[in-house]
This record gives sequence, structure tokens and C-alpha cells, in this order.
Amino acid sequence: MPRIAGGTFLITGGASLVGSYIADALLAQGAKEIRLLDTLALGSTEMVGHLLNDTRVKLIRGDVTQLDDVVNAATGADGVFALAAFLTISMAQNPALGVTINNMGIVNTVEACRIAKVKRIIFASSVGAYGLPTADVITEETPFTSAGASPAFVLYSASKLTGEALCAHYQKAHGVEFNALRISSVYGARQHNRAVNANFILQVHDRIRRGEAPVILGDGKEVHDYIYVSDVADAAAIAMSSPSHGHVLNIATGIDTNLTRVTEIVLEVCNARHLKPLYRADDRAVKASTVTHLNFSRAKAEKTIGWTPKISIEDGLRRTIAWRDSRGKS
Ligand SMILES: NC(=O)c1ccc[n+]([C@@H]2O[C@H](COP(=O)([O-])OP(=O)(O)OC[C@H]3O[C@@H](n4cnc5c(N)ncnc54)[C@H](O)[C@@H]3O)[C@@H](O)[C@H]2O)c1
Repeated sequence: MPRIAGGTFLITGGASLVGSYIADALLAQGAKEIRLLDTLALGSTEMVGHLLNDTRVKLIRGDVTQLDDVVNAATGADGVFALAAFLTISMAQNPALGVTINNMGIVNTVEACRIAKVKRIIFASSVGAYGLPTADVITEETPFTSAGASPAFVLYSASKLTGEALCAHYQKAHGVEFNALRISSVYGARQHNRAVNANFILQVHDRIRRGEAPVILGDGKEVHDYIYVSDVADAAAIAMSSPSHGHVLNIATGIDTNLTRVTEIVLEVCNARHLKPLYRADDRAVKASTVTHLNFSRAKAEKTIGWTPKISIEDGLRRTIAWRDSRGKS
């Protein structure tokens, strides 16, 4: 298994929210070299600006749909974090490109790992791999449910199931070790506007800091498992260096938080409890999961790789809002 200290790692889609935090975690643990492969189509140098003065970090302009780009970037790496992808909103805007990037990107990434003899790949999968599940507790055994899911969400989710299967195949056929992380709704400082569920946080905060009442679409009972981005990065680093591999793992807090509660916390953090939420009809064009019960089990991640999340939703929202406020009102 790759050791983080002294190791060389490639992060595809590295100029991303999650990628920037994985790079932070690897550097803090003494990695020798971090390569961030990105087209910068969605991510930006601003996301990783704080890293670029570190001589251990190399930003490589390259495209995961081009096998040569991934092979060149992966050569000499001990491990690869496969993040390059379109999320559901981007998938809805350009499905042809999204399907190509998400599917060919992971095809090329596992193939590059085989060619370059990379020891392990950590695949950024998603709890989207469950679709709209109805189980009481969602474990890694819970099947995908497509009924009622929006087409763009299904395209995104299917690409994550494809990626997991490719990783499992390459481990079995070629000995490239993997762990695939079914990550829940990520949010945090450096938050972008490409994730449906985190966008709700941004929209609520934007209205509150303009002195306007926050708007909740629907009855406020829709829940998400919001996970702070540094907890995801910790999980990725642990999954890379753990003796245990070959797993699909829920990387979620296990806590459902509904839209009304998120709004209450943001109001508290902003000292704006006098603003009363307005409930309006849900007219979002693009939706991901819209259920009122999730209950993701994180027992397998705890048992196999010893990961547990550390940041509560209250603390995470405080950090996110502090970061947004530090950049001024936009
Ligand atoms: N944000 C979430 O809530 C969430 C939840 C579950 C899983 N994930 C997964 O985690 C990963 C990172 O998510 P994020 O929120 O940090 O996303 P992000 O949009 O910030 O990052 C995606 C990155 O991929 C890059 N990219 C796009 N096309 C590329 C290409 N052809 N070649 C190379 N790079 C390319 C983009 O420029 C961007 O920097 C994704 O795979 C996503 O599916 C995210």
C-alpha cells in the first residue's frame, strides 16, 4: 500500500474543491510530490492558489479524456485520486461532454494506472450511486433506485457505478488496488456553485447577508447528509494508505439534516434569527436527491479503514460562512 509520507500522488480534477483539500491533507502528512491534473474547465487556480507556491505541488494542464495526458501525469506516482468529473448540474448543462468526461475519464485513469504501474487508485464515487433509495438504513449493499430521479442525476450516478466497476475489474485483472468512496453532499470553505445541495447553503447565505429572508423550496423536509470537505479529504488519504483495499465505502456523516435546519443554523451563525424563512414551490430545473430520509451507514468505512468524520454541520457551516464573508459579498 502507498505510504503518504515521501509518496508521489496524482489528483485528476485536482483544481477542485475536494482535490484542493486532499492536496492539503497529503502535504500535511509529508507527501513528496502532488500532481494536480486539470483542464481548469470548471475548477480554477484560485481553488489551489494557496498550494502553488509549494515546490512539491505541480499543476498540470491536461484532460482525462486523453489517455496520454493521464499516463504522463501518472508515471512515477504511487497513488492516484480520481476526481475529474462533471457533477449533476454540469451534466444537465452538457450531457454529451459530461458522459464522456465521467466515463472515458475513469476508463483512461484505471488504464493509465495499469500502464504506469500505480499501486492504488482512490475513486471519488458518490452516494448518487444509490439514486433515490427507500431503505431504512443505506449500506453499501443497498441497490440503485432510479424511479423518480432526474435524468441528469441518473447519468451522473451511472457514471459513478461504472467507475466503481472499472476499479474492481482492474484490481482483479491487473492488480491495481482501489478503494471507491461514495461521498455524500460535500460543502466547505472554497465552496463552488456546481453542487446542487451545497448551492442551497450558498443561496440561503446570500439572501441573509443581503438582509433578505431565506427562501426554502418545498416544505423544508428534504434531507441531505452534509459532509465537511476536510473530512472527505481525510477519508481519501486514509483510503490510500490503509492496509485494507478493494472496498466501496460510504463516506458520509450518517446524519440527515433537512433544509429547514440548515437554514436555522445559517441564520444563527449570521445572527439573523429575526429573518423568518419563506417556503416556496420547488421549481428547481436540476435536482439530485430529494428524499426526506437517508440514514447512510458509515459502519463499513469505520471498520475497514478506520475513518470517522470530525466536523459537525454547525461547525462546518460556521467555517464555510467565515470563508465566504472573508472574501466580501459577491
Ligand atoms: N461536491 C460534492 O458534493 C461531491 C459529492 C460526491 C462526490 N463528489 C465527487 O468528488 C469529485 C470532486 O468534486 P468537487 O465538488 O471537488 O468538484 P469540482 O467541480 O470542484 O471538480 C471537478 C474538477 O474536474 C475538472 N475537470 C473537468 N473535466 C476535466 C477533464 N476532462 N480532465 C481533467 N479535469 C477535468 C474540473 O475543472 C474541476 O476542477 C467529483 O468526482 C465528484 O463527482 C463530489
